[in-house]
Amino acid sequence: FDDELDDRPDTLEAIDRAIHACRKCPIGQLDNHAVMGEGPRDAALMIVGEQPGDQEDLSGRPFVGPAGQLLDVHLEKVGIDRRAAYVTNAVKHFKYVQRGKRRLHQNPGAKEIDTCRWWIESERAIVQPKLVLAMGASAARGMLGKTVSISRVRGAPIALEDGSELWVTAHPSYLLRLDGAAREEQARLFDADLAAVRERLSELT
Ligand code: URA
Repeated sequence: FDDELDDRPDTLEAIDRAIHACRKCPIGQLDNHAVMGEGPRDAALMIVGEQPGDQEDLSGRPFVGPAGQLLDVHLEKVGIDRRAAYVTNAVKHFKYVQRGKRRLHQNPGAKEIDTCRWWIESERAIVQPKLVLAMGASAARGMLGKTVSISRVRGAPIALEDGSELWVTAHPSYLLRLDGAAREEQARLFDADLAAVRERLSELT
């Protein structure tokens, strides 16, 4: 088992097994289940979120709860086919605090994200996407190993060491927390980022 946790896995199935056994950070010790990325092994586009939420933890699939449903609406609006993308998270387990019956989402810490980079890097090495879309600060840190300001880096590609491109945008949960004019403005920016990704993807593929 330890070998599976320390040697870079070379199949998605091996990563899936290994993340379920992973206790390298405190999040993996909570009462939760690892959620593996989902999508074609040779996807040109990899979409990265923060971590599974309550519904993802229960269903074992990424982006099926409220944030995922909003993401689906925006992807469809700009013409990105989610089923053709490999969808995953920077952190593989749901971090929460229990409040009565509810499990409330907690942001992963920098150390937790950096520990979990091992898995996202392993997924990326196998899928070899041409373009990675990181949604939110945790996803961006998961890809870059450092914190960036989304407003500063969004809208233009960041070159990754293997020749692929990283694009950064806001997390759909951020949109869910806004309303009124602020929500509309952020939805517009989100759509613009997704549309730029769709354009770039059609050039790269
Ligand atoms: N938010 C994320 O970042 N990822 C999910 O899978 C679900 C919600």
